[in-house]
Amino acid sequence: MNVVIAIDGPAGAGKSTVAKRIADALSYFYIDSGSLFRAITFKVIQSGLDMNDINGIIKLAENSTIDFSNNKVFLDSIDVNSKIRSAIVNSNVSHIAKISEVRDIIADIQRNIALKKNVVVEGRDIGTTIFPNAAFKFFLVASVEERARRRLLELNSSGSNYSLEEVMEQISKRDIIDSNRAVSPLRKAEDAIIIDTDGKCIDDVVNEILFNIKSFN
Ligand code: C5P
Repeated sequence: MNVVIAIDGPAGAGKSTVAKRIADALSYFYIDSGSLFRAITFKVIQSGLDMNDINGIIKLAENSTIDFSNNKVFLDSIDVNSKIRSAIVNSNVSHIAKISEVRDIIADIQRNIALKKNVVVEGRDIGTTIFPNAAFKFFLVASVEERARRRLLELNSSGSNYSLEEVMEQISKRDIIDSNRAVSPLRKAEDAIIIDTDGKCIDDVVNEILFNIKSFN
């Protein structure tokens, strides 16, 4: 059985940067599960499908191939990494993520990778639903303001011009949808270790997680 390290938490808690660093440090494969939902959302938007056309969205997801290569996500063999971080994807992705059939497709992609490799997987439901038997589970948290500040930097570095208040509102809305959906809501697994990233630099968070992993070995 390959080793799974699950890193869950809300938007902007620092999961991506930290998970990538942990994967690098241990030479594990990095899976950004959010990018899978984002890729489907991007394709739905591109196709002009109505966000309420659940059957159409499920069909579209069934007819998509999503892979990772060099920490980048490829949708139908095209690198969509930069396109899936846009504001329009941000504001629609949580609606797509409520659809259980889409979640099943995305769960299979993650589990198939873990059949072949040791993985660090980041998301919302990794420790609870996707890999409930993961060897290590972490749940990253930070205040909404701190998380919005991080997302603001990411969004505005790609040319947007959002205010902190706007991003705080987007993030809070996404938290509410993600935490209250019927299937696989954002939730800390009972056996996950909470890491509060507020006011900590990336190195500190990475070291705290690596320390926890090593102390179990
Ligand atoms: O992590 P990221 O912000 O890229 O995730 C985008 C969205 O994908 C989340 O807001 C959530 O709606 C969905 N998601 C999810 N389950 C995961 C990962 C992401 O529902 N494991």
